[in-house]
Amino acid sequence: MKTTLLTPETDENAVKTAAELIRAGEVVGMPTEPVYGLAANALNGEAVKNIFLAKGRPQDNPLIGHIADFEQIYDLCPAVPPQAKQLAEAFWPGPLTMIVPKGDCIPDEVSCGLDTVGIRLPSHPMARALIRVSGVPLAAPSANTSGRPSTTTAAHVMHDMDGKIAAVLDGGACGVGVESTVITLALERPRLLRPGGITLEQLRSVLGEVDVDRALYEKIGDDVKVSAPGMKYRHYAPKAPVTVVRGNPQDTAKYIAERIGDATGVLCFDEYKNMFPNCIVECFGSRDDLGAQAREVFDRLRAFDDTEVTQIWAQCPSDEGLGLAVANRIKKAAGFSVIEI
Ligand code: TXA
Ligand code: MG
Repeated sequence: MKTTLLTPETDENAVKTAAELIRAGEVVGMPTEPVYGLAANALNGEAVKNIFLAKGRPQDNPLIGHIADFEQIYDLCPAVPPQAKQLAEAFWPGPLTMIVPKGDCIPDEVSCGLDTVGIRLPSHPMARALIRVSGVPLAAPSANTSGRPSTTTAAHVMHDMDGKIAAVLDGGACGVGVESTVITLALERPRLLRPGGITLEQLRSVLGEVDVDRALYEKIGDDVKVSAPGMKYRHYAPKAPVTVVRGNPQDTAKYIAERIGDATGVLCFDEYKNMFPNCIVECFGSRDDLGAQAREVFDRLRAFDDTEVTQIWAQCPSDEGLGLAVANRIKKAAGFSVIEI
C-alpha cells in the first residue's frame, strides 16, 4: 500500500481527502495535541481491525474514541457520569481521556470486550476538522508501532507506518508531546490510569480525591489484572536498554558521568550536556522546563535508534505537575529499571 502524506499547507483538500479515506474504511495518521494517532471510523469494526494490523497491537488493548463536540459523547456513552461532565467542562477540548460505560454501537474491535470505552475531545484543529468532515467518531491509538516511542511528528508516523496505512495528515509537531491523561470513571472512585497533559493536581482540583493506579510506579507482573490493558505491555522503548537515575539533577548527572563506558547513550537535561564525553548525548529540555521535556522526550528516545549505543542512562524529572507524565514515560522506556540516589 502506498502511504500518502497529506499536507494542508500546500493542499487545500487534505482534510477532505483524509475524511474520504476514513469513510472508505481506511486508516489515516491524524495529528492531535498530545501525539499523532492512527484513526479509523470507530463505528466500523472491520476498519478498526486494520489499526491493530498496522501497529502490531495486541488484540486485547482497547482504543480511545475521539469526538469533535461534547454532544457526540452520547453516541458512544448514553449514560454519561456527572463527573465526566465536570471534567469536560474544565479540560475539553484537551489531552484528557475518560473511561466511561460504553454504548451498544461500539464494536468489540474498539472496546476489546470491555464494557467501558475511553473518550477524548482533542483540541487540535486538524483532528477536530477530520472528525467533523468524516461525520463519525474516530478510534485512534498512538501512531507508533506497538512498543516503540509514540510519534510526535508526521515524519515519525511515516517512519513507522509507511506502506501500512492509506495516508498521514501532516499537522506539524505536537504541542504537548506525551499522550493524554487517562482517568477511569467506571470504578467506585475516579482513578488515574495514565498521567499526561492534564495533571493529577488539575484533576483533583475538580473532582477532589483521585486515586492513582499503582501501575504508574511499578512494573506489573503478567499474572496481575490491570485497569488499562495497555499498562502491561512494554512501552516507549528504544532498542538499547535504558537505566533511569532519579534524584537532584546535579547529582544524577555526576552519578551517570562516573559510569559511562563505550557506546553509551545519555538522555539528559540541557544543562548537563557537556558532562558526558565520547557518549551519544540527547538533551530533552532544561531541568525546570517540563513543557519542553514533554515535547522532546519521545523524539530524543527515538533518536538513539539511529546510533550504535548499547546502553542508555537517563535523567528524569520529579513527579510534580507534568513531571509525573514525563517521568512515567522515561521509567516505562526503562522497563522500570530505576536507581534512586
Ligand atoms: O494522547 C492520546 O491519548 C493518543 C491520541 C491519539 O489521542 N492516543 C493514545 O492511545 O495514546 P493508546 O491506544 O496508545 O493509549 C490508550 C491507553 C491504553 O493504555 C489503553 O489500554 C487504555 O488507554 N484504554 C483505552 N480504552 C480503555 C478502557 N476502556 N479501559 C481501560 N483502559 C483503556
Ligand atoms: Mg500508545
